[in-house]
Amino acid sequence: MLRPYVIINCAMSADGKIALPSRIQTRISNEEDIRRVHELRNNCDAILVGINTVLSDDPQLNVKSKYVKKRNKPIRIVLDSKGRVPLNANILDSSAKTIIVTSERCKREIAKAEVIRCGDNRIDLHRLLAILYDRGIRNLLVEGGETIIWSFLKEGLVDELYIFVGSMIIGGRKSPTLAGGDGAQCFENIIPLTLKEMKQIGDGVLIQYTVKR
Ligand SMILES: NC(=O)c1ccc[n+]([C@@H]2O[C@H](COP(=O)([O-])OP(=O)(O)OC[C@H]3O[C@@H](n4cnc5c(N)ncnc54)[C@H](OP(=O)(O)O)[C@@H]3O)[C@@H](O)[C@H]2O)c1
Repeated sequence: MLRPYVIINCAMSADGKIALPSRIQTRISNEEDIRRVHELRNNCDAILVGINTVLSDDPQLNVKSKYVKKRNKPIRIVLDSKGRVPLNANILDSSAKTIIVTSERCKREIAKAEVIRCGDNRIDLHRLLAILYDRGIRNLLVEGGETIIWSFLKEGLVDELYIFVGSMIIGGRKSPTLAGGDGAQCFENIIPLTLKEMKQIGDGVLIQYTVKR
């Protein structure tokens, strides 16, 4: 199957949390890292998040001109099987094209976005990536949250991971972590990574991995 090259980018605390226990958006990156993320977004054809990230953070998911010289407009994609995206969500502003991916059971139409129906009850990520590839998307940036990141890893659909580790501890049993979902149930299901690079960015560290095949 031909599919886009998939990069995960995520910011976590030193204890692996990506937000507060309330799941309210938490600033973990520093200004230098935010610039890196916008440059990364600018080099990708599309940026993908799960619906819970839209509901909790209300991200715009675009590229800010203050961070890049020549600004592109990557397509924004939300995995939203039940069609729960609010009409006033920032992702539905007109700053770039938006695709809402729902299951085939969801009949909702959304005026400000294209709706792709993919998968009977749950979104079929393999089928979705083949559709996105057919539409010319070659580089896909997955920005979270923990449920989506685990799904992509579990399905073997990730090529590279950029993890920014902020110098802070968030703690809390309920705080989302880098990869959530059910996680690996046995040793054989652990996702092995290859460490490619590490560098300090201001008061944090950027770690770059590829996924072992
Ligand atoms: N620090 C960071 O870099 C960063 C980045 C992004 C988000 N976050 C944080 O992450 C948290 C949200 O994470 P989350 O895990 O609750 O939500 P999420 O990963 O954003 O969204 C998960 C939802 O996506 C939908 N979905 C559709 N197809 C799916 C599939 N194939 N696999 C998995 N999910 C699918 C499901 O809802 P339906 O069943 O309704 O479709 C699922 O519950 C927030 O606290 C946010 O602030 C942090």
